[in-house]
Amino acid sequence: MNSLLEQLNAQQRQPVEDTEGAVLVLAGAGSGKTRVLTSRIAYLIREKGVSPFNILAITFTNKAAKEMQERISAIIDSEGMWVSTIHSMCTRILRNNAERLGFNGKFSIYSESERTNVIKKSFQECDYDDEKLLKNCKWHVSNAKMLALSPEDYAVYQAKEGNIRELEAITKVYARYQAHLLENNAMDFDDLLVYTAKLLREHEDVREYYAGKFRYILVDEFQDTNNVQFEIIRMLASVHKNLFAVGDDDQSIYGWRGADIGNILNFERSFPGAKVYKLEQNYRSTKTILNLANTVIHHNKTRKDKTLWTENAQGSQAVAFEAEKRNRRSHVHRPHHL
Ligand SMILES: Nc1ncnc2c1ncn2[C@@H]1O[C@H](COP(=O)(O)OP(=O)(O)OP(=O)(O)O)[C@@H](O)[C@H]1O
Ligand SMILES: [Mg+2]
Repeated sequence: MNSLLEQLNAQQRQPVEDTEGAVLVLAGAGSGKTRVLTSRIAYLIREKGVSPFNILAITFTNKAAKEMQERISAIIDSEGMWVSTIHSMCTRILRNNAERLGFNGKFSIYSESERTNVIKKSFQECDYDDEKLLKNCKWHVSNAKMLALSPEDYAVYQAKEGNIRELEAITKVYARYQAHLLENNAMDFDDLLVYTAKLLREHEDVREYYAGKFRYILVDEFQDTNNVQFEIIRMLASVHKNLFAVGDDDQSIYGWRGADIGNILNFERSFPGAKVYKLEQNYRSTKTILNLANTVIHHNKTRKDKTLWTENAQGSQAVAFEAEKRNRRSHVHRPHHL
């Protein structure tokens, strides 16, 4: 175990050893957030005697989940631990409880192209035929689910926002699309989140079971969680309240998918008494790159203040890459202002 802690710097060691309650590690790129999260799991199992059965780790991609699983099993036996993306976790919970929502546990999950086809079919059944309207419907269905709103509630919400154009069509197509999914015992990707949130919210026994099981919850890339994901995580952490999240408010690139930077900036507000740690030593980049990054992200408006430094070499001068639209040539040049 000592060797495990020895592989961490002093700033990294603190959140690994501070295992109870809500803890947020807010740190820049390449500062060891994922390493800290992995080490913390090993620490919980080995030092605190926590059963892997009581641990849930959420990663952003399946690849990251696989890598994390491998890294942890190399250190300690972690059989029974849940390490997965939030979508895989939701699928697993839903397969065991689908009947509560009127589905069968063997429900299918539609790919993007299946989703497109069924929306198109619903669209035609409603007697619409304008391509642009179809495109809008597709976008709005996803947007409604990101906000966890039913067709009726979405209509009310959009009307309140003053967006009444095409609202009737959008709501009709959305309702029809949902009816098709239910008929076919199918869900789309957005549904996995929406239905899990609904299941946990409306079925106390299910919520108590999972929230009781997961004594420790650890979330990587927390800056990319959207509101529905945040709600699910919050409900899962409602019994033991041991939520550990690592993220970087300067790396939030999924705003278009509904990721809410407020989730990270308001962590302390959502979890009273939460502790926040920073990691400021970067292990991945040269001094030149870090200086540049610090200069750029300094302009971000809503951010927690932190400055990255490194013991790595100065490195060669940065090169600006100006990318143009597809099918056009891109230019590389050395600007003196960098
Ligand atoms: N204390 C340390 N000593 C040596 N190497 C370290 C240390 N901490 C992290 N590293 C190395 O630095 C690299 C970045 O670490 P890691 O991937 O955990 O950072 P991160 O903050 O999660 O990065 P990202 O922002 O990209 O998610 C990895 O190769 C990791 O092994
Ligand atoms: Mg990481």
